[in-house]
Amino acid sequence: MSHAVAVIEASSKPEFYAALNRQLEAVLHGERDWVCNLAQTSALLMQTMPDLNWAGFYLLKGRELVLGPFQGKVACVRIALDRGVCGTAAAKRETVVVRNVHDFPGHIACDSASNSEIVVPLLRGGTLLGVLDLDSPKLNRFDADDAAGLQRAVEILLAASDAGH
Ligand code: SME
Repeated sequence: MSHAVAVIEASSKPEFYAALNRQLEAVLHGERDWVCNLAQTSALLMQTMPDLNWAGFYLLKGRELVLGPFQGKVACVRIALDRGVCGTAAAKRETVVVRNVHDFPGHIACDSASNSEIVVPLLRGGTLLGVLDLDSPKLNRFDADDAAGLQRAVEILLAASDAGH
């Protein structure tokens, strides 16, 4: 089944994410395949969120994060736990918001257009499955409202999928 993605017009970030997450539930409905749902989620985020240059996933394999489904430029393929913004979020099991990636020690530059970044861990019952990573060419693109909205998106993705299979 195909889905038309509606343009989201919202007057605040909470309103934007409420609409985005309703679309995400609709797009993932009826399909539980993990890779399929990761791919659709990265596409929906890239299609609807303003000022992004990269949106996608790194999945935990052993002690490394390995590049998963994404939208954007060709990226680095393997990131050790606690390296870069992705590895830091994975090791801490916490969302990390970076206002200016050039000020983040150890930031891994995959696309030179990126100036700010947010990474949200994918956690199922305390088990780390990977991370969601979004990059923006705008400084200070992400804040606590983005963190809350994207954490909800990750919950929807995990609930809709047979994660890890
Ligand atoms: N900047 C990330 C690496 C992944 S790319 O942004 C797609 C990091 O420092 O972990």
